[in-house]
Amino acid sequence: MDVERGTVEGAKGAVPLVLRPRGERGAAALADWITAHAGEMGAALREHGALLFRGFAIDDAEAFERVARAVAPDLKDEYLGTSPRKALTRFVFTASELPEHYPIPQHCEMSFIADPPRRLFFWAMRPNDGVGGETPLCDFRKVYADLRPDVRRRFEQGGIRIVRNYAGPSGGGRLDPWKLKRWDEMFGTTNRAEVERKCREQGFEYTWTGGDRLRLVSTQPAVRTHPDTGAPVWFNHVQVFHLSSAPREYARIRRLRPDLRNTALTLFADAMVRAQSVLKKPDEHALHCTYADGREIPAADLEHLRDVIWRHLVVYRWQKGDVVAIDNRAVSHGRLPYRGPRTIAVAWA
Ligand SMILES: [Fe+2]
Repeated sequence: MDVERGTVEGAKGAVPLVLRPRGERGAAALADWITAHAGEMGAALREHGALLFRGFAIDDAEAFERVARAVAPDLKDEYLGTSPRKALTRFVFTASELPEHYPIPQHCEMSFIADPPRRLFFWAMRPNDGVGGETPLCDFRKVYADLRPDVRRRFEQGGIRIVRNYAGPSGGGRLDPWKLKRWDEMFGTTNRAEVERKCREQGFEYTWTGGDRLRLVSTQPAVRTHPDTGAPVWFNHVQVFHLSSAPREYARIRRLRPDLRNTALTLFADAMVRAQSVLKKPDEHALHCTYADGREIPAADLEHLRDVIWRHLVVYRWQKGDVVAIDNRAVSHGRLPYRGPRTIAVAWA
């Protein structure tokens, strides 16, 4: 097998490097090619932060898993994030079962756990037709570098505190449009002692609140150094988990795609957030972020951060069978709203 290197339409800078087959295009041959070019693939991932394998015959979850394993053999199956997911194989999951109109802002996968994934993989099992549904990428090394120094300093000195409130097995709060999956879904158990053990392992403070609800609080630095290069990387979920996330993200999506739905969603999300901020205390929101000491983060700083992220956003359409391999410690991902059906699968190491 031989592979041709290129870029994708919409690429900014080097993200992602596109690899296309010359001749042979089977998943097994691709996996062998990746293994034989391990050094080159590692260097390409370090430089570009993401590789897009396009035009290969990656037709089922097993083929996707095989290609992912060729890049990173030690795939993981424990997911402590916020998206509802379904398992396709032990190590391959649907990326997100969140409703199709939800925007998912840019984030490095599970940035808030003790040892976040090094590698992240997506596979376009069934891309949606029509507009939207992209999985944009963003180089978070560039976001760190481009933040205004005073904003960056406030985040670096302040750190990030995340609060998450989960319903339990009885499923309370299902009508809340900001609802997360339940804690028993996230931890894969209804055993509270087991949940507490996993929380301690991850450094999450846990509080059982009324009606079998669970509150998790975690703090983290805003920036981490890259494990291979030592380069500083913007590495947190602050603009994803902040209460203001949905309306501010919709406002930008509406600028990208000005249509009635995006206008209505922006207005609706804005009204919801205003109501939530009056009705609930800061620690009672489904999700919220402050500085580590609990001070609120200035709205203007968050807006500046979102502007920098959107300036570096790479938006490209999925083609069926695409696989993207991401250096999760350097490059973030998100999701733009769409109309279904659409299935994107994920794996990580
Ligand atoms: Fe994600």
